[in-house]
Amino acid sequence: MARAHVEFIQAQAVPWTQGYPGGQRDDVESKVLSHDPDSGAATVILRYPAGWRRDRPEVFGCDEEFFVLDGALTINGQRYRPHSYGYFPAGYPRQGAISEAGAVLLTFFEGPAETAKPGQGFRIDGGLVPLIDTLAMPWAPVTHDPKVPVGLMTKTLRIDPDTKERTWMNARLPGGVRDGFLGAQEYHPVVEEVFLLAGDLFLERGVLQAGGYFWRPPPIKHGPFGTRAGLMMIARTKGGPLVNHWTEEKYPFTFTPPHKVDLPPELQAYGAKPYAGMTVY
Ligand SMILES: [Fe+2]
Repeated sequence: MARAHVEFIQAQAVPWTQGYPGGQRDDVESKVLSHDPDSGAATVILRYPAGWRRDRPEVFGCDEEFFVLDGALTINGQRYRPHSYGYFPAGYPRQGAISEAGAVLLTFFEGPAETAKPGQGFRIDGGLVPLIDTLAMPWAPVTHDPKVPVGLMTKTLRIDPDTKERTWMNARLPGGVRDGFLGAQEYHPVVEEVFLLAGDLFLERGVLQAGGYFWRPPPIKHGPFGTRAGLMMIARTKGGPLVNHWTEEKYPFTFTPPHKVDLPPELQAYGAKPYAGMTVY
């Protein structure tokens, strides 16, 4: 059984739970945004309390990928600040870690967050990314697909050496589309996963605000999309490289989409209605 379609949930609406299963993160708070009950893979937000530390080495039996949303964390002597990114393949040793003032991390586990078992096989080159300070990276225009709207900027954070799965950031300036604009819908042969870091994103399923998240299995058609405030997001593919397909038919864009989310039972209480927590007045 693969992960359920989650499109979409505002992370702020999901309550914190004490601990995260697996024995490695009993002492943090967590929010599960998406999970695979068979493989144990999950996308979670972890909140490390002030003073959290590991003085002993840790080795996970699964890949751990993360993006710092708030606070700071030091692992193996490297300091991870807001918008720092890392990818530790299964078996990568963490000699020690500390968060003096606390930290909130968007974290992607590719299996149960358990200690690696003796003899467990690790990928020789698992695509380790020790640290990227994404704030210091320049944005580049998206040029690989002429159908992508002009003005979409990107930062590539990682391409998996084996699967070619991709992790990247996008930014887009405000506006640029109008109500009634007709555009093709896109779809992909892979999962598309997005966490909105800032701004807003108008989809046919509703309006994501900062903290909005979706896990969209293939080959669900989507778009055209737009933004009123501009946007910045982190995104991943799972199951292979990013490939864009486009419909022949055109569909109208609207800044007033109905709230029509698709959520698994455990998230329905938090996302069935539009999230009202964000306002500028
Ligand atoms: Fe897409």
